[in-house]
Amino acid sequence: MAKKMKRIPFVDLGREKSLHRHLLSAAKNVLRKGVFIQGAEVTRFEKNFAGSVGVRYAIGVASGTEALRLALLACGIKPGDEVITVANSFFATAAAISLVGAKPVFADVEESTLNLNPKLLSRLITRHTKAIIPVHLFGHPADMDPIMQIANRHKLRVIEDAAQGHGAKYKGKYVGAIGDVGIFSFYPTKNLGAYGDAGAIVTNNPKIAKTMRLLREYGRDRLEHHVMVGGNSRLDELQAAFLNEKLPLLHRFNRQRKKIATVYQRLITAKEIRYPVELRGYRHVYHHYVIRAKKRDALMNFLARSRIETRIHYPTPIHRQPAYRKQYHRQHLPITEQSCREILSLPMHHTLTLTEARQISHAINSFYGK
Ligand SMILES: Cc1ncc(COP(=O)(O)O)c(C=O)c1O
Repeated sequence: MAKKMKRIPFVDLGREKSLHRHLLSAAKNVLRKGVFIQGAEVTRFEKNFAGSVGVRYAIGVASGTEALRLALLACGIKPGDEVITVANSFFATAAAISLVGAKPVFADVEESTLNLNPKLLSRLITRHTKAIIPVHLFGHPADMDPIMQIANRHKLRVIEDAAQGHGAKYKGKYVGAIGDVGIFSFYPTKNLGAYGDAGAIVTNNPKIAKTMRLLREYGRDRLEHHVMVGGNSRLDELQAAFLNEKLPLLHRFNRQRKKIATVYQRLITAKEIRYPVELRGYRHVYHHYVIRAKKRDALMNFLARSRIETRIHYPTPIHRQPAYRKQYHRQHLPITEQSCREILSLPMHHTLTLTEARQISHAINSFYGK
């Protein structure tokens, strides 16, 4: 059986062929105009992206990591401050905190969603705590109401890491629009992906928006006039042109992801598998479809032999990475650490077909003898 099956890649961006004509014409348009930095495409994208999230301001930047780093700076986070986040995110969430000289403080996560557990926040807050970064992991929103309540009580900033949450909703609001700042990545495989690196921050706070604009471009408010020290973290005009083509398609892409998730949920019947939840009042956008599996590594190997590519997001929690493990060797995050041994990301992308999702489901069932 394994030999006959066609390979199913985890993500295959080469399949976005139906978009190529539009992308090429958008690129040609930029080439024709001859403006490659901070042109009309960036302005248009910022306006439309802010509108799509339901906030006043969006500021395009070079990547999700830069969005996080600059958002921390714009929120006034300084060396020695503490910022609470989770350890089961992509490494960049914590790295950005360290890059501004602050200290990441890791909270354990909820068993159901694997998102930050708000019940654990209060005990982690010290006089050095200045901000919280909840991550809308895999595209399922974190429980923002209690996070915002605690943050307001302690006067902490909230920076939502929505790098995996384009179009996800929490109690009727788009993620990114709930905290002081939201950050997005447009890394090519994201639900809204560019064709290179790109990112954005969104906010309703005019002061944060203004500081972000300065920080991303040499700290200047006009040509040859620098009011603060800033580097170069701009969103590229070509990437903005591509994103302008794709933004109107985001909800269609997300609907296809939801359809694939429904197929997985219906057809994977092995009781050794736990599906991702979509809690009532939340909209999951399935950036990753992450199951929790008994005998996870054996299942992953079996799927690989069946030519189905899967991944683990993320096999090592951030506090156990070589860059941090000395500093955090005493820290124990039971749910985070346990989940790393069970999680498995199945192929998920708007170009994946429902037939492929069915094949993957059957292969998983057959591994468990169903
Ligand atoms: C949760 C999370 N935060 C931050 C980032 C960093 O974004 P980027 O790769 O655009 O720097 C990513 C993605 O890569 C991510 O998944």
